[in-house]
Amino acid sequence: MSATILGIESSCDDTSAAVIRDGVLLSNVIASQAVHEAYGGVVPELASRAHQQNIIPVVSEAIKRAGIDKSELDAIAFTRGPGLMGSLLVGTSFAKGLAASLGIPMVEINHLQAHVLAHFIKESPDDNHAPSFPFLCLLVSGGNSQIIQVNAYDDMKVIGQTIDDAAGEAFDKCAKVMGLGYPGGPVVNRLANEGNPKAFSFSKPHIAGYNYSFSGLKTSFLYTLRDELAKDADFIEKNKKDLCASLQATVIDILMSKLRMAAKDLHIKEVAVAGGVSANSGLRDAFIEHGKKYGWKVHIPKFSFTTDNAAMVAITGYYKYLDKQFCPMDAAPFSRVQL
Ligand code: KG4
Repeated sequence: MSATILGIESSCDDTSAAVIRDGVLLSNVIASQAVHEAYGGVVPELASRAHQQNIIPVVSEAIKRAGIDKSELDAIAFTRGPGLMGSLLVGTSFAKGLAASLGIPMVEINHLQAHVLAHFIKESPDDNHAPSFPFLCLLVSGGNSQIIQVNAYDDMKVIGQTIDDAAGEAFDKCAKVMGLGYPGGPVVNRLANEGNPKAFSFSKPHIAGYNYSFSGLKTSFLYTLRDELAKDADFIEKNKKDLCASLQATVIDILMSKLRMAAKDLHIKEVAVAGGVSANSGLRDAFIEHGKKYGWKVHIPKFSFTTDNAAMVAITGYYKYLDKQFCPMDAAPFSRVQL
């Protein structure tokens, strides 16, 4: 059955729309919101207003770039949650209006499931890079750090997750106290490439099972800054590359040690990474090294599919559409939702 799906993503601060036909990506348009930079974090009210401004031009552009007419769409997939309520409301309401006017069904999408299924986006009909089931997916973003056992498109089990901060939050918060701006992850990554990862040692958690914790690392980072700044007011400026390299190495070490444990216990050698933090070059390198060392088949997403994008919403919508998993017109967004 041929299916052309429009995906709409508006869960946080990126407005995105994408068109997928039979699993192959035809377009993926993303409007990011620079308005939050001045505040050092996403301001929910400003995010919803920016989504309202962006949604029509972004969806129109996605349909235009796909080279189709909107009458060719078979369904509209939209992110229902988790995310910021006001932001989700814009995408959800728009999806409802467009679906009603075109007389086509709607498919609700869990944002976390979409991050995992980003690995199934094909960029051409003969693109066959997708993982095979079962595989493990490390989902690391600004709000989540999870190890997910993926048994099928619609059968995912969270086997480990953070009990406090997420990995991206650890990067963002430590970057903030160093005055590196928001979001901090990409800046830390850039500086870390020129620093010594062994210059500082920060504490690592001792949590049972496959769960993560990053708040201890954050506290130990802050204590180091406090102690050193008391001796030298220019400490951060002089050491920021080494601080970033050591912070990044610690985050990667924490992430990979639990993933190694899960892969070993569950005898799964197919391992993927997803979410905004998977753009981190150190983490990507660690995946490649683990692949070589432990015989894992590793799956690392293209940069454009790491952060929030509608292509991953459309591909998830495509599989749910094939399964006829439609949602009613009164579906309301969820700010918090499990996989
Ligand atoms: O999945 P994502 O785009 O969205 C949310 O969770 O909202 O992830 C954003 C997170 C932020 O914490 C950002 O700092 C982090 O991904 N990030 C990175 C890099 N690029 C983005 N962290 C480390 N290194 C990067 N290169």
